[in-house]
Amino acid sequence: MKPITTAIIAAGCFMCLPFISEAQTAERSLKISGKYLNFPISHKTDRAKMTFRVPGEPDLSVVARLAGEDADYWVFRDVSSLEGKTVTILYEGSADALDKIYQSDEPEGHETMYHEKNRPQFHFTTRRGWINDPNGLIYHNGEYHLFYQHNPYEREWENMHWGHAVSRDLIHWKELPDALYPDSLGTMFSGSAVIDYGNTAGFNRRNEPAMVAAYTAAGQDRQTQCIAYSLDDGRTFTKYGGNPVIDSKEKWDSQDTRDPKVFWYGPGEHWVLVLNERDGHSIYNSDDLKNWTFESHITGFWECPELFELPVDGDKNNTRWVMYGASGTYMTGSFDGKKFTPEGGKYCYTTGSLYAAQTFGNIPESDGRRIQMAWGRISHPDMPFNGMMLLPTELSLRTTKDGIRLVSFPIDEIRELFENTVSWKGLDQEEANGKMEKFRDAGCMHIHTVFRLSHATSAGIDLSGQRILDYDMNGNTVNGRFYSPQDPSSMELTADIYIDRTSVEVFIDGGLYSYSMERRPVSGNSDGLKFWGNRISVEVLEISEIKSIWE
Ligand code: FRU
Repeated sequence: MKPITTAIIAAGCFMCLPFISEAQTAERSLKISGKYLNFPISHKTDRAKMTFRVPGEPDLSVVARLAGEDADYWVFRDVSSLEGKTVTILYEGSADALDKIYQSDEPEGHETMYHEKNRPQFHFTTRRGWINDPNGLIYHNGEYHLFYQHNPYEREWENMHWGHAVSRDLIHWKELPDALYPDSLGTMFSGSAVIDYGNTAGFNRRNEPAMVAAYTAAGQDRQTQCIAYSLDDGRTFTKYGGNPVIDSKEKWDSQDTRDPKVFWYGPGEHWVLVLNERDGHSIYNSDDLKNWTFESHITGFWECPELFELPVDGDKNNTRWVMYGASGTYMTGSFDGKKFTPEGGKYCYTTGSLYAAQTFGNIPESDGRRIQMAWGRISHPDMPFNGMMLLPTELSLRTTKDGIRLVSFPIDEIRELFENTVSWKGLDQEEANGKMEKFRDAGCMHIHTVFRLSHATSAGIDLSGQRILDYDMNGNTVNGRFYSPQDPSSMELTADIYIDRTSVEVFIDGGLYSYSMERRPVSGNSDGLKFWGNRISVEVLEISEIKSIWE
């Protein structure tokens, strides 16, 4: 459907219409009868302000590159909650482009959705637009909630909303309408979510505990911390009228105060909020999620804080707290509810495309895992979406030859997607390459291998000329990063490799070290999958195809 009026008015001055050629605002009103508004996007067009005006609701302003002529792709906004209402769209760009917006019960391009050439098949991606950090990861009423930084209007970063997807198994995801929209305090930057069982904030209704999201509102001159609550399983949120709940710009003489991670601290019976502020992570305490007291600060971290307790080697009587920032470099130590005290140094368990990892809250005790998801900084050329979530991994602490270290390994649930598994033992290099020949064109797969070097030089696996595994015993590096196995004289390495359409994730020795990268075949290379190196032996080789999660 494609109706109604498009009028050009000069910004702020309707009467001046015929004389103004700059800063023109086109206006269009639509009575909502479809589920979606579809927008044509062209990267040849500059971004211009677009405001949605709905009677009785605050204005929603974003910037968009609406296509006057040919669209590169289409994006959409789910407007099902506005049915019957009249939405006025003001656009400070081309009126022709504004005219192309249309309503429908399906997003434009739905026929090929999830089947596009460069659509990851077993990683979460958004239907349209840009995604970065996972936000508000929480389990509640049988669902895992994945909120995330989302620009619904373009495949590049802007207009931060909280996107929303749910899953019952952490593998198959259903994308829902965006959960948090920009407002007068700013765009919706990263944060977390909790379930307020004790009704400490007073948002609960009858026996339904509120899901409370803590997020950063990124305004023009400051970043402040805000809360919003949901009483319908995260489908809709109400922003707290007393926002912001933390404004610490002056204290830090910095605009960089963001990404609140909140959790309940049982021993002290209070809430803890970890916030990245300028040069590290601050700890705040609260009894009601609304009033927060600054307690301490530790330098050396940037963005997206995490802090959680883990047993060492599975022993619940011997625990450590783990603190990390967006890059994933971490410290272990102790935490008394107000202050994190590190022991030892700062370490790195993963490198590559991972950023802004967060762990799920409220996982049932009967499960007890600490499950993490992270943004994979993987680009998707020519697609109407960009960015992805890496595989959910279980985090644990293990005593290693170097001390207590963080280990990250994909959750078992992912194995449900494996099919047509084949495995061999005791192969030489040529035999192993012969077995892998069959998989040269396979799109998505898992490879588990244990291989042994015969010389102290490098060896590994190539995928169409791309070096996805490079173990160098001379420099003791795995893909360029220092790595020494638990038996330092061992010539053997174990690797679990997940290959999707646009990414490769590799877990070494059960997750003691991991890395991820874009899948970029070397142009013209038709080698497929291949071990390389000087007379290596392949002790174990197991290959599974991986089913799509979108079928
Ligand atoms: C990390 C980050 C966060 C911020 C968000 C904005 O990737 O920069 O610090 O909240 O992204 O999208």
